[in-house]
Amino acid sequence: MKIAIIGTGNVGSALAQRFVQSGHQVSFGVRDASSPKSQKASTIAGTTLLSIEEASKLAEVIIIATPPEAVLSLVAQLGDVKNKIIIDTTNSIRTRPEPYATAYHALKEITKSNKIVKCFNSTGFENMNNPIYSDFGGIDMFCAGDNKEAKALAQNLAKQIGFSECWDFGGDDKVELLEKFALSWINLAIMQGHGRNLAFKVIKRA
Ligand SMILES: NC(=O)c1ccc[n+]([C@@H]2O[C@H](COP(=O)([O-])OP(=O)(O)OC[C@H]3O[C@@H](n4cnc5c(N)ncnc54)[C@H](OP(=O)(O)O)[C@@H]3O)[C@@H](O)[C@H]2O)c1
Repeated sequence: MKIAIIGTGNVGSALAQRFVQSGHQVSFGVRDASSPKSQKASTIAGTTLLSIEEASKLAEVIIIATPPEAVLSLVAQLGDVKNKIIIDTTNSIRTRPEPYATAYHALKEITKSNKIVKCFNSTGFENMNNPIYSDFGGIDMFCAGDNKEAKALAQNLAKQIGFSECWDFGGDDKVELLEKFALSWINLAIMQGHGRNLAFKVIKRA
């Protein structure tokens, strides 16, 4: 699958490595190919560094891995995304794309695309790079949004890169809850000091 990742930082780079390992064709869409993050990402084998316009045009699926407010300036560069799936990994915790509650809401309203899903936002980038915990197997991922096709694709991608399950958190009305869930991970891992090698896994009694 042709995947464009907008953002070459922690999340974009971790996902790029895993998607390449899973056999996908990954292009980074960048605003500045000479930035330190772009330069570092350009060393990830199997990826190419393109402008946001070029990466978006080539892609079947576009992953947003920038600060949430960046969607306001980059969305015009995505071009026509009606037939593309957009996966939003952002969390509007410290900043948000005013006047929207989250980047998901901004993307949906501005692009007029329905094929949007929130996913890969609820754990640290280290866990995206390596979702396997030796005693427990793959950790869990979560996704939210109204569009079934986008959600199924995100779930499939999450499992391909090693997550054990990608739980459906619900529709558009659960997107902000999923960002709060990410804040719960940040709270435990960082604010409460348990460290970033910590992850969520749902268990069910048979
Ligand atoms: N870090 C985590 O563990 C984690 C986990 C889950 C979700 N998230 C969410 O994922 C998103 C990315 O986090 P991160 O830690 O990967 O960030 P990061 O390392 O700071 O990288 C941000 C990337 O976004 C790019 N960018 C910033 N403004 C842009 C704009 N206006 N147009 C195009 N590109 C722009 C930067 O490009 P330049 O190189 O040009 O600066 C950089 O490549 C955030 O929304 C965060 O809330 C993070």
